[in-house]
Amino acid sequence: MTETDHGVGEAVAARIERRWAILSIVIVGLLVGMATFIGIHQATMPQGRVETSDPKTLHLSGEFVESNLGSTLEADGSVTVRAIGQQYSFTPQCIVVPAETPITLRATSADVVHGLLIEGTNINTMLVPGYVADLPIRFKAPGEHVMPCQEFCGIGHQGMWGKVKVVDKAAFTKLAAGRRRLTCVD
Ligand code: CUA
Repeated sequence: MTETDHGVGEAVAARIERRWAILSIVIVGLLVGMATFIGIHQATMPQGRVETSDPKTLHLSGEFVESNLGSTLEADGSVTVRAIGQQYSFTPQCIVVPAETPITLRATSADVVHGLLIEGTNINTMLVPGYVADLPIRFKAPGEHVMPCQEFCGIGHQGMWGKVKVVDKAAFTKLAAGRRRLTCVD
């Protein structure tokens, strides 16, 4: 190996090193750019469908008055569940729904941000005052699921629990025949 060969080798190594350094900076820049774009995009573009509610008048009129909370069997055979979260409970405290049935859960908050999580399912949403959460659910089999508030909402947060009782479809239809709104609150 001559002196010049050595010099050439060094120059090649330095060039390759510089290319990798540039490439890694470009990758970091690209990721920062993507994160910035998504952040600005989400903050400035409203979601496709936003439903609002007024926490101050929830109990007085509209969809979330107390007499309208609970499960309803719709004409098409599906079920709509309406619920609210407030410091520190859910209303209704116990939700009853049929198995093997398309269910729409509609819920909101009467005060601060709460979370609604149904254990053993992929249902996990925030209840934000002023907005209606609307989620499709379907339970395969009868059973009970706990429904904790999963968003810190104040000193009573740990005690904010509800329950979802999934019953046989026929049993639910029988229950629904007599009443407009169903719950399993004792
Ligand atoms: Cu409600 Cu935590």
